[in-house]
Amino acid sequence: MEERIQKLLAEVQAFNAQTKDALEVFRLKFISRKGAVTELFEELKKVSVEEKKRLGKVLNELKQSAEAKFSALQETIENSSTSSSDIDLTLPPVPNKVGNLHPLTLVKNRIIEIFERLGFNVADGPEIEDDWHNFSALNFPDNHPAREMQDTFFIEKNPDLLLRTHTSNVQIRLLEKQKPPVRAIMPGRVYRNEAISARAHCFFHQVEGLYVDKNVGFADLKQTLYHFAKEMYGKDVKIRFRPSFFPFTEPSAEIDITCLICKGKGCNVCKYSGWVEIAGSGMVHPNVLKNCGIDPEEYTGFAFGMGIERVTMLKYQVNDLRLYSENDIRFLKQFQTVI
Ligand code: DAH
Repeated sequence: MEERIQKLLAEVQAFNAQTKDALEVFRLKFISRKGAVTELFEELKKVSVEEKKRLGKVLNELKQSAEAKFSALQETIENSSTSSSDIDLTLPPVPNKVGNLHPLTLVKNRIIEIFERLGFNVADGPEIEDDWHNFSALNFPDNHPAREMQDTFFIEKNPDLLLRTHTSNVQIRLLEKQKPPVRAIMPGRVYRNEAISARAHCFFHQVEGLYVDKNVGFADLKQTLYHFAKEMYGKDVKIRFRPSFFPFTEPSAEIDITCLICKGKGCNVCKYSGWVEIAGSGMVHPNVLKNCGIDPEEYTGFAFGMGIERVTMLKYQVNDLRLYSENDIRFLKQFQTVI
């Protein structure tokens, strides 16, 4: 028996393995529960007491060196396998997930791009506004219903401080400090006290446009917005001007484009008319110019205000306004590669 143990010991000492499989064969042969060491311990029970002492010592030596060998080799194999054989350096890397711009930002940027090419600057104004810039200077009569609580979020009363209900306030801010020619677009967020539904929200976004100079006429307004619609939606889009009323423009018109969701056939988005309103517009009212210290005999201008959510809805066929502010990643990531 001693001879067998010595032979195995020599085998253990000489053993070397490069792979996990070879090491597993070693483990099974020597140290597993059915391996040689266990077997020999079984045999040891049968020998005489004196023999047991001597053989036990050698057998323990075999056990320890087999175990030591196993853990040493296991460590080397594990370390080397991560640096070479298990890693395929030719595989393409897993791409990092990057965020993307919000659809409203994408559309706002596109609107800016289109108007910048026509020579419009981008201007900005406050979201917390006083009555003068949001209403009075824009020729809203004192008793106009839009000033009342159901539409406007008031922050303070007397003097009034409110969340702007439209971006038209920036027209006034701009004309107060800049003399014509003025050609600007003014994107921003606006607030209205509305019940939230698929079609209305208590905050949304507009882009205001303003062009004041000598001899600006309604034909300029029409041509500018027609150009915009073609750039945004393609050359086949149709546009129409419908007479309307705004206190700050005269004459006023609402601008419709052919419904891009049903291609003019009629659907619930266009209320089966084939047309969708995207903006209000008109010739700047002489009172507005006067309120900003500009002579309406010398200068004329056009203005428009369009809803960015509306423009986006038609571009990407989104039919529920609430999606824009819910931050659902499944909605947002659909815009990763657009525009
Ligand atoms: N401010 C209007 C609104 O929020 C939109 C608008 C209409 C803006 C006509 C204009 C305009 O500049 O000329 O409903």
